[in-house]
Amino acid sequence: MRRPLIAFLVLALPAAAAEGEAVFRGHCANCHAVAAGAPVGPGPNLGGVVGRKVGGDPGFDYSPVLQAAGEAGQRWDAAMLERFLVDPEAMFPGLWMGANGLRGAADRAAVARYLAKRRGP
Ligand code: HEC
Repeated sequence: MRRPLIAFLVLALPAAAAEGEAVFRGHCANCHAVAAGAPVGPGPNLGGVVGRKVGGDPGFDYSPVLQAAGEAGQRWDAAMLERFLVDPEAMFPGLWMGANGLRGAADRAAVARYLAKRRGP
């Protein structure tokens, strides 16, 4: 009886990681790079965002609301990222992101897991 469970885990875990990348490509990558050393785009580089202070890409000129949050000591973690993506402007009124979050909780979690594995800018 163990085999189907193991087969499920082997097949499902890499699929979940790939899914986060696919969601990111479809909804975020137009504005956000994740590769180290990538040129600044319309949005900050999100490589290494998990664990980084809010407004923490040194190459990006952030809105006052994100600068203030970073100066106040706020840091991104996966849970905060998931909450942010429910409604980004509700968390940071005056945000300049110009994009909605993600409607599905599974997509939000997948993107947060994907970003948690990327290195800094
Ligand atoms: C239309 C362009 C655009 C899209 C699409 C977009 N963003 Fe952004 N994002 C921005 C901009 C611009 C900022 C900086 C906002 C500011 O300074 O107020 C930002 C900021 C952020 C931040 C804060 C980064 C930091 O360093 O503190 C996170 C996290 C983020 N975006 C995640 C996402 C995710 C995840 C997606 C996809 C679901 C996404 N964004 C889609 C433009 C975009």
